[in-house]
Amino acid sequence: MSEEIPYKIYLSEKEIPTNWYNIRADMKNKPAPLLNPGTLQPLTFEELTPIFCEELVKQELDNDTPWIPIPEEVRNFYKMYRPSPLVRAYCLEKALGTPAKIYYKFEGNNTSGSHKLTSAIAQAYYAKKQGLKGVTTETGAGQWGTALSMACAYFGLDCKVYMVKVSYEQKPFRREVMRTYGASVTPSPSMTTEIGRKINAEYPGTSGSLGCAISEAVEAALNLDGYRYELGSVLNQVLLHQTIIGLETKAALDKYNIVPDTIIGCAGGGSNLGGLVSPFLGEKIRGEKDYQIIAVEPASCPSLTRGVFAYDFCDTGHVCPLAKMYTLGSEFIPSANHAGGLRYHGMTPILSQAFHDGFMEARSVEQTQVFEAATQFARVEGILPAPESSHAIRVAIDEALKCKETGEAKTIVFGLTGTGYFDLKAYAAYNDGNMNDYIPTDEDLQASINKIPHFPGNLA
Ligand SMILES: Cc1ncc(COP(=O)(O)O)c(C=O)c1O
Repeated sequence: MSEEIPYKIYLSEKEIPTNWYNIRADMKNKPAPLLNPGTLQPLTFEELTPIFCEELVKQELDNDTPWIPIPEEVRNFYKMYRPSPLVRAYCLEKALGTPAKIYYKFEGNNTSGSHKLTSAIAQAYYAKKQGLKGVTTETGAGQWGTALSMACAYFGLDCKVYMVKVSYEQKPFRREVMRTYGASVTPSPSMTTEIGRKINAEYPGTSGSLGCAISEAVEAALNLDGYRYELGSVLNQVLLHQTIIGLETKAALDKYNIVPDTIIGCAGGGSNLGGLVSPFLGEKIRGEKDYQIIAVEPASCPSLTRGVFAYDFCDTGHVCPLAKMYTLGSEFIPSANHAGGLRYHGMTPILSQAFHDGFMEARSVEQTQVFEAATQFARVEGILPAPESSHAIRVAIDEALKCKETGEAKTIVFGLTGTGYFDLKAYAAYNDGNMNDYIPTDEDLQASINKIPHFPGNLA
């Protein structure tokens, strides 16, 4: 074992980045703007501010400023759990017998259990600064809802969470964590919103999806005075906040002159992956360096690998704007896969554009293979990974095993976005041999892809 590189590379608090990195400033092909579905024109600041906080709308629309200062109050909160460790997976390397050098950036080292807190605290801060009473949101696996509940508690804001029904039922303890932080939690689709009642009537007994929950949360925010909606992924602003993951990773690697060959992350809406890879992708786009970047998604919800690149609604109820992204169609409701946080029909426009332009690869993996990797990882590295994060572990292991065959000592970095202590039903299904892999057929996908809006320039 090398003496030089420690198990965990920690940066000091002083090394917490002072700016987020806005990759859009360096992209030659900018992500397409959000469109107003009524006019098909780019959404303006004035149209977006009834839904989102003003400062966040500015960040959403800013394609030009490369570095955006992190407010002092947000950096102070970050000090409670950042910088997060970059871990050298010595034990996993040994177990695999690979010459590859594997590192993971561990974002589960805060009480909420995932990377989501990094954007939640920024979003709550801007809501507070604007003088709002509270915010509404959706949550899939429960990680984002937990993070936002915690952030709202810190700033004394009310938080109303619409939780995808399947997770609400599978994860009652997650719900209680949110309630303990003071949030109210409603299973989605619910009967408390117009759109929820409509979805329930159209798809009786549906287990819900992130797309449905988003529609409900937006409707609730629009109907409540002093509230705005906050989203945990997909949007440019969320990816921006998550770039702290990649900036810290790069700073830690630079300390030891480590240059990664391959960077891997799971991709739901794309915020953690986008955050992790942004500084590296920036170098790649600017032609300074080359890296292999791999997005990993569930075979049950394969937006990058089997979707189409088109303008589509961000939500099932069509109350949200149109975003140009890889999508399976906003009416696609994935099977009840255990990685709730990856059950989203689209992919953030920034990564969609980067993928479209050939800067990134994508793989889809089946959940039994994912849990096999999760179990293997837990037994040697000690951390019980979230099912979402385990998608990245699966591909990191696959790549390390390829190195074993070829004898290459590649450096692989992956994002370990969270812990899986609230996912034990999923682990139980795997341990009992009761886990299924449902892969949608081409017909299944075509049915929802056919419902993507057609207009001149879009699938027309
Ligand atoms: C632990 C964890 N990892 C990853 C994700 C995927 O989200 P994103 O693609 O926005 O990072 C989620 C989403 O809920 C999550 O909870």
